[in-house]
Amino acid sequence: MKIFSGTSNKPLAYKIAKSLGIKLSDLEVFVFPDGEKRIRILDKVLGEDTIVVQSTSTPTDENYMQLFFIADALKRSGAKSITAVVPYFGYQRQDHVFREGEAVSGRVVAKILETLGINNLIAVDLHSTKIEQAFNIRVSHLSALSIFAETIKKNGWDKSSATLVSPDMGGIKRIKILSKMLGNMPFAVIEKSRDLATGKVTAEKIEGKVEERAIIVDDMISSGGTIALAAKILKKQGIKEIYVFAAHPVFSDKAPKILQKSEAKKVFVTDTIFTPVEKRFPKLEILSVAEMIAASLSS
Ligand code: R5P
Repeated sequence: MKIFSGTSNKPLAYKIAKSLGIKLSDLEVFVFPDGEKRIRILDKVLGEDTIVVQSTSTPTDENYMQLFFIADALKRSGAKSITAVVPYFGYQRQDHVFREGEAVSGRVVAKILETLGINNLIAVDLHSTKIEQAFNIRVSHLSALSIFAETIKKNGWDKSSATLVSPDMGGIKRIKILSKMLGNMPFAVIEKSRDLATGKVTAEKIEGKVEERAIIVDDMISSGGTIALAAKILKKQGIKEIYVFAAHPVFSDKAPKILQKSEAKKVFVTDTIFTPVEKRFPKLEILSVAEMIAASLSS
């Protein structure tokens, strides 16, 4: 088995390789003056099962192109199989037509990956099952919820004083699974709506009773608007402690500042996307999905 990494999340790839007890194999990413890239596999892969780790986070298109080229290079070098580990799957939110005339971008990238001969895909906390269904190859859909449950337990937050909160209706399934993992911790849902043209988020009310401690759970944080709004509503309702758990730290624009300034005491995310130093903030804590991915790769 040989494991390679694109450039989007090398620290995670190293950790996965370490958990598997193997070294990261070499590949060259050469950038031409015009920005085009040339990928070259520097290790022998003939007849080998290969893994490529690449989060398709910002810059999404560049990271996808790298993944496409690495897969092509592996195939041409005679790899027996290719498993793409895409901890954060870019374009996953565009999984169906929201408004007439739109492309279904998530499906487009799924089709390309299949065409390139990728045999298996490992992804973490996909926004919905629609992306999984877009593939005809084996998709292992992992979830950081078990890591969140462990962290919640370690902190001693239990169902007597804490309520799980989904910041929108779309997150109900997620919150129900986590609630079960935590011995039926109570949950509540915020009714949120988003303007499809501007992306602006508004929230109306909370469905359900919230205890003194609220644990907001979401799949990703992009602008930080959803979380900041949810925390504000909860604070207004008199909730004393607010914590946030989200799998993917997309952290676009001013998200780190918005989150640091928000009513949340702490924001837990994972390393599905690499968070550079300039995007880290005092309230942030990063949990690792490396061992979970390594376990899936060796099963
Ligand atoms: C939306 O359905 C997702 O689950 C997230 O709540 C959303 O993508 C977060 O985006 P933002 O941080 O920009 O509000």
